[in-house]
Amino acid sequence: MNITKDIFYVGVNDHKVDLFEGQYRVPNGMAYNSYVIMDEKVAVLDTVDQGFDQQWLANIEAVLQGRKPDYLIIHHMEPDHAGNIARFMEVYPETTIVSNAKAFVMMDQFFPGQLHSPRVVVENGGSLSLGEHSLIFVFAPMVHWPEVMVSYEPTEKVLFSADAFGKFGALDVEEPWDDEARRYYIGIVGKYGVQATALLKKAAELDIRIICATHGPILRENLGHYIGKYLTWASYAVEEEGIVLAYTSVYGNTRKAVELLAETLRNKGAEKVVVYDLARCDMSQAVADAFRYSKLVLATTTYNADIFPHMRSFIEHLTERSFRNRTVAFMENGSWAPRAAKVMGEMLEKSKDLTLCENSVRILSALNEESTAQIEALAEELCRK
Ligand code: FEO
Repeated sequence: MNITKDIFYVGVNDHKVDLFEGQYRVPNGMAYNSYVIMDEKVAVLDTVDQGFDQQWLANIEAVLQGRKPDYLIIHHMEPDHAGNIARFMEVYPETTIVSNAKAFVMMDQFFPGQLHSPRVVVENGGSLSLGEHSLIFVFAPMVHWPEVMVSYEPTEKVLFSADAFGKFGALDVEEPWDDEARRYYIGIVGKYGVQATALLKKAAELDIRIICATHGPILRENLGHYIGKYLTWASYAVEEEGIVLAYTSVYGNTRKAVELLAETLRNKGAEKVVVYDLARCDMSQAVADAFRYSKLVLATTTYNADIFPHMRSFIEHLTERSFRNRTVAFMENGSWAPRAAKVMGEMLEKSKDLTLCENSVRILSALNEESTAQIEALAEELCRK
């Protein structure tokens, strides 16, 4: 596939993967993108997951048409992109590997004693001439590993952005970009908003016409939309007004309370109310929506003097991704010593810029008149805020 006259797509679609990075469900598979620039010198940009070496090498061979690659550029050492470095060097042993010092340390860890080819170690801001084209390297630490760099090709104005602007989903499945790009960003890079913002700042200085990420589609049109989404996500700003109700329920009583709250909110005119049963939903979807919307209600039972495990896990997913800048409310259930609201509050203590609702809901085993009134008051407050 031609991206421009001289830049080609040689990546692969993975429909075998069940959990990407061992935890993210990818019902539409995953794409591992790799590119070739054909010029006086030929450069291959990144490799693909180890299980796809044959297809990837065949894609490269079809583009090269008998030429040999001069450079293998490695932007990121995570094995979904770097898994085939040694395999590539078996086929093209004359190739020079181009990357940065941190990446070469990891390369020798992943492929101990296996790589003997010449190396070019690039600096931040350094460049590599291929003839008419060149690549300028910009380091992007923690987006999403410390060795990550992106590169910019100024002749065709292409940003090779590594994981940034990537999404879940193979390229042979049509689906909207935003939802799976959000779930990907929040899940995988979400902790590193400061570093992602720094990369966006550097990118703003470049005239970019095409974004080629290592996952997801080639972005050519309406780049402002994608960059705008990234600016929102990286800054932890609210993306949309809406209320997420995330709950766990053992015997259905907490669920009934959450359903009543959802109904009350809708009756009061709340336009966007999203409900997640944390024991059954895709946790990464619930996490992504907690960052997407402005308000979050956490409802759970007291359990072993703590909270129900799925809720603990959910809150940990939020806090380890620097959850902040949202309105939060608590609903707790307990039959003899309810303390779930206290535990949830303590877990969120270090989260910045949270607005805690004055109203909360305490269910003693099952809904009664008092807790039903508390739901009404909480709904009122959430609609007011
Ligand atoms: Fe797609 Fe961080 O690897």
